[in-house]
This record gives sequence, C-alpha cells and structure tokens, in this order.
Amino acid sequence: MSDSRIEKVRLGTGGPEVGVQGLGCMGMSQSYGPTDTDEARATLERALELGVTLYDTADVYGAGENEKFIAPFVRAHRDEIVLATKFALGVDPADPTKRTIRNDAPYIRQCVEGSLKRLGVDHIDLYYMHRRDVNVPIEETVGTMAELVREGKVTHLGLSEVTGRELRAAQAVHPIAALQSEWSLFSRDIEASAVPAAAELGVAVVPYSPLGRGFLTGAFVHADQELGADDFRRQQPRFTGDNAAANAALLDPVRKIAEGRNATLGQVALAWVQQQAAVHGLAVVPIPGTRKRGRIEENTAATRLILTESELRLLEPIAGQVAGGRYTDMTFTSAGRE
Ligand SMILES: NC(=O)c1ccc[n+]([C@@H]2O[C@H](COP(=O)([O-])OP(=O)(O)OC[C@H]3O[C@@H](n4cnc5c(N)ncnc54)[C@H](OP(=O)(O)O)[C@@H]3O)[C@@H](O)[C@H]2O)c1
Repeated sequence: MSDSRIEKVRLGTGGPEVGVQGLGCMGMSQSYGPTDTDEARATLERALELGVTLYDTADVYGAGENEKFIAPFVRAHRDEIVLATKFALGVDPADPTKRTIRNDAPYIRQCVEGSLKRLGVDHIDLYYMHRRDVNVPIEETVGTMAELVREGKVTHLGLSEVTGRELRAAQAVHPIAALQSEWSLFSRDIEASAVPAAAELGVAVVPYSPLGRGFLTGAFVHADQELGADDFRRQQPRFTGDNAAANAALLDPVRKIAEGRNATLGQVALAWVQQQAAVHGLAVVPIPGTRKRGRIEENTAATRLILTESELRLLEPIAGQVAGGRYTDMTFTSAGRE
C-alpha cells in the first residue's frame, strides 16, 4: 500500500517533518459518544501505515484518559511519530461543569510532568498552550515553555487559538512550530489575523475540527434527534434547533462537488482546508478526528483531491452563511480577542 501513503511537510520553519494530515485523538476518549476501543487502537495503527505521523491529544481530553489510551501506541512507535499534547485547560474544582484556563509557570510545570507520566515518554515532540489565560502575558507563558525545551522535556512549541498579535509576541520569545485553531469550510475567523501572521512568521497551521465536528460529512440534518444524549455537540449552537437544518442546507455545493469528483463530502471539506496552504502560502496539516479504520483511508485519500478554481469559488460563500457560533462562549477563542 506504499502508493497510498500521504505526502510529508515541515511543520513550521524549524519544526519536524510530518505527514500532511495528522490524526486527532480526542474523540477516542470524549465528546462524540461511545468508542469501540479495539477499533480506535486499530485506527491509530492504520493511520501510521498510511503515512500519518502527527498524533494530537491534550491533558484535558477525558481528564487524562486520552493520553493514557494512546500511550501504548506512542511507545511502540516512538521514533516514527510526532506526539503533540497540550496544557492550559482543566476542570474547575468548585464546579466540575466549568473549565479553568491557566498559563502560569507552576501550572505549566505541573502539567508537563503529568502528561509525560501518563504518556510514558521522556519528552513531548510538540507542546501546545491549549487556551490563552489573559491574566498571564504570553511572553511569560512562552518563556516557561522555552525552559521546557532547554530542559529536554519538550522539543517544539505550539499555540492554540491565539490571534496574530499574540503569535507575533510569542515568536519573539521562542520559535513556534504550529498554530492549532479551528479552520474549516464552516469556521474561517482565523483568516482575519492569525493566518497572515503565521504565513509571515513561517509557522504551520494545524486546523482542528476540519470536518466541522462531523457536520461537513453530511451526517446531520436533525442533529437534535441524531446525536446521543451525552454528545458534546448537543451543546453547540451549530448543531441545535433551527441552526442544524439551515446549516445542513449549506452543504449543497459540497455535495455537488463530491458527486462530480466521485468523492465524499468529508473529502471535499478536507481538500478545501488542505488547499488553504497554497492560497495563504504556509504549511497546513489538518487533524481530522476519527475512531474508525475505514475513515482514515477516506480522510487521507482527500490529501490527493485537488479542487479546481471554480469548485473553490462555489465553496467560498459557505462560512459567511453558517448559523450559530462555533462555541457557545467565544471569549476563550482567538476571535473573542480580535
Ligand atoms: N485545540 C483545540 O482547542 C481543539 C478543539 C477541538 C478539537 N481539537 C483536536 O482536533 C481534532 C479533530 O477535531 P474534532 O474531532 O473536534 O472534529 P472533526 O475532525 O471535524 O470531526 C470529527 C467527527 O467527524 C467524524 N468523522 C471523521 N471522519 C469521518 C468520515 N470520513 N466520515 C464521516 N464522519 C467522520 C468523527 O466520527 P468517528 O470518530 O466516529 O469517525 C467525529 O465525530 C480532535 O481530535 C482534537 O485532537 C483541538
């Protein structure tokens, strides 16, 4: 199957080389309903066979369970993969339904030790700040992250959901390999300042939720009825009420292109985000999340689907018409600080 392997790209000017599509592991431990763990393990292995080398987790996913879940795979393939994890998000001890965000040095040091232990490794290849705590200057946070690089606990640095201004301030302290933010046919707010800054600084963009949390695959029409009771998307404005039906109708051009190219809707969505590399002049490594082997094959095949100019034009208006924000509370995103 060597001809099915995906291309490689450098993650930022001084970053590691990775397969041009990564794998998001979050759904294996939270958010999107029950997981068949044997199938999820097989998915990790199949991804590697197809040239996927960037594996994305975070300490908060499943409250540490996601790092533990992928740990045996990580250790079995330590030198073949680029392991990415994140710190900053936690659960408020006073109210477990609320998230906390911390970027201070003692907290970062506590987090990195926890991740190293759960993953069973002596270093993390790419360590991200997951969310920005505005009470701590970003220079200070990146300064602490840079100390971890000097100590050998971390090799490369990344930031998630930062603005262009914050990315510039961070890069002045230490090279940043990757900016991870939501970027898809449905979510294009990062094009305002973060993408131009990343292109100028030589930072790669790692789009998360490139399938719009599954919506862009055409899987949902009446999401309220289709999602399980504990599915995180039930709380998301785009999946609820009238928004879900309105957003499903926006997929018509995606469906039309998919039919014409003998592709799936998800492949068209992934091809679009991948092609933003050429549009904006920077490295783009989307990390679609899946727990199913067959979907890995479908998703990685999308790296070979090149959309034409007229197809790209058909897709252009979609993001501007989406009903509902990408989170209920946007203050924790880069768009909330633009
Ligand atoms: N930095 C951040 O703040 C942040 C936030 C969110 C996510 N992330 C990262 O980004 C990764 C990806 O984002 P995401 O998982 O939220 O959203 P996504 O990749 O847009 O979509 C994932 C959903 O799509 C389904 N799916 C995947 N491939 C499919 C296919 N070919 N056909 C039909 N359905 C398909 C998955 O279901 P199955 O699993 O059942 O296949 C899952 O429900 C996460 O795993 C996580 O690592 C980061």
